[in-house]
Amino acid sequence: MQFEVIAKCHTTKARASRMTLAHGVTMLPTFMPVATQAAIKGLTPQQVELLGVTLILNNTYHLNLRPGLKVLNEAGGAHRFQGWHRNLLTDSGGFQLVSLSKFTTITEEGALFASPFTGEPTMLTPEESISIQHTIGADIIMQLDDVVSSLTTGPRVGEAMERSVRWLDRCIKQHEQSGKKNTQNLFAIVQGGLDPVLRDRCLDEMIARRDGVAGYAIGGLSGGEEKDTFWRIIKQCADKLPEERPRYSMGIGFAEDLLVCVALGVDMADCVFPTRTARFGVALTHQGPLNLKLSKHAQDFRPIDEACPCPTCSEKTSRAMLHHIVTHETVAAHALTIHNIVFQAQVMGRARSAIIAGTFPDYLRSFFSDYFGDTG
Ligand code: GUN
Ligand code: ZN
Repeated sequence: MQFEVIAKCHTTKARASRMTLAHGVTMLPTFMPVATQAAIKGLTPQQVELLGVTLILNNTYHLNLRPGLKVLNEAGGAHRFQGWHRNLLTDSGGFQLVSLSKFTTITEEGALFASPFTGEPTMLTPEESISIQHTIGADIIMQLDDVVSSLTTGPRVGEAMERSVRWLDRCIKQHEQSGKKNTQNLFAIVQGGLDPVLRDRCLDEMIARRDGVAGYAIGGLSGGEEKDTFWRIIKQCADKLPEERPRYSMGIGFAEDLLVCVALGVDMADCVFPTRTARFGVALTHQGPLNLKLSKHAQDFRPIDEACPCPTCSEKTSRAMLHHIVTHETVAAHALTIHNIVFQAQVMGRARSAIIAGTFPDYLRSFFSDYFGDTG
């Protein structure tokens, strides 16, 4: 990986950078749409490429179940399997195991879960997670971490953080032995819940392992904690993480949160929110979200956003039409998913341009005044 900071904001910690991976350049800050099952729901990978997206996220857990490693191996990796030519990041699977299954037990060896197909006990170890991610062939791969909900309190939070550090060592070892270090890049995931002391210890331990990792994620957030607490933890982590490595806040997707994270020095983020909310009939706009299910759109013949360059808006698909089909037709999910992906890309693209132009604070002010103003 090549990672180069090209501009910094003078009044915030925001920075713009160029990240070069095996499948091309991705300019940061960026938002990564989530393609859980090797496809963003409702769109083909070709459509996503045409929107200008250069980095998406897949899940190790889901790809390992379906289509499975045999198929991925024969296809020559997930890029070829899905016909995606740009950069790809895979999450390690631990977070999905915990959030999707009530029956997952964490041991020192790994995460023990019941196979959703056979019910048989199955173990995902840090070594296996990395090895699966090698078969998938993502440009950025994530360590297996021990994730607890951000609302968990007590000794479990510290235990999960310490275990995530030990599992990072096992992931680094597996990655170094694989011979894949030149094409795939391992990221560590900082844990420690909402406790600044635990976060600080995790930061120290993971920064000490910097030779083994290409970048750092901030995990364990966005689970229902107060905004104020969330921002403090992001700030603490971003302030301490090495300047010359990309910083990725996991599971963040509201535009207002993305911009605060960018102002605190975050470079990358992902979330299912923009694509999921599209399937629920909500278009994201610079004046705030627009719920197309509401009957007030039934005779509104304007596009979602006159100035939006996305195919949905530039083809002048009306709000009335979207309202008409939104509860019945997959085409509405398709049209809104396209729009929302372009919206997220615009929010981040404008942040990048503003950081480079030295106008990032002005951009923040105008974004927040439009987004939370009552002119829409
Ligand atoms: N996605 C959102 N939060 C997390 C996290 O803490 N760990 C992992 N692996 N994935 C996440
Ligand atoms: Zn649009």
